[in-house]
Amino acid sequence: MRIVFLGPPGTGKGTQAKVLGKRLGVPAISTGDMLREAVRRETALGRHAKAIMEAGALVPDEVVIGLIRERIASPDAARGFLLDGFPRTIAQAEALEQLLEDNGTPLDRVVNLAVPEANLLDRLLGRCEQEGRSDDRPETVRERLRVYIEKTSPLVAFYEASGLLAHVDGFGSVDDVTDRIERALTRTERTARRA
Ligand code: AP5
Ligand code: MG
Repeated sequence: MRIVFLGPPGTGKGTQAKVLGKRLGVPAISTGDMLREAVRRETALGRHAKAIMEAGALVPDEVVIGLIRERIASPDAARGFLLDGFPRTIAQAEALEQLLEDNGTPLDRVVNLAVPEANLLDRLLGRCEQEGRSDDRPETVRERLRVYIEKTSPLVAFYEASGLLAHVDGFGSVDDVTDRIERALTRTERTARRA
């Protein structure tokens, strides 16, 4: 299973990718988590990414494409993976397509999670208070949402055109959303088998 989770900040991509990754026995791969780990360890990558992330902007395409190229080549990703937060630009999506085509392992599905914007803000500002993630401050959250609309939302049409997209309502409890994603995945599997 090779699945991409798409959606604005706070829609639950990371939460759902972790739950489903365990269930499906494949790694949930988050470029955000990889970058935060690099910042924590103060590596060269971390020093480069820190200010960009705190501003709510995107780390350069070639940097995250390099991270993903290396990560999906690891043995634990051979059976599949769930991508959370990558791709985030058309250039990243095209690079991923090329990478997977070279490996002969195309994507199976793209899950597009949607949650009303007011709820996204509540979730992220709630996490800001509880965990203090440095890009969950209100002004940075607004910028992350703006960047999503400008740079990432064109991916919805990109994947719709390739027939991979499954729209899933991300509002409700974590368990309810997981059930909806699982139903959407089996539904499209059946459709794909019929086709
Ligand atoms: P990244 O870490 O990818 O963050 P994001 O997508 O902007 O936002 P979140 O992680 O907050 O959203 P999520 O959809 O994963 O939701 P989550 O499950 O966490 O990226 C951070 C930064 O890194 C970027 O801004 C950029 O600078 C850089 N970066 C990363 N990838 C990049 C790339 N490919 N290219 C360039 N730059 C990149 O949930 C959010 C909150 O809601 C949590 O507190 C959670 O507990 C809660 N929650 C989840 N589900 C529910 C529910 N059903 N009900 C109530 N609360 C819920
Ligand atoms: Mg996340």
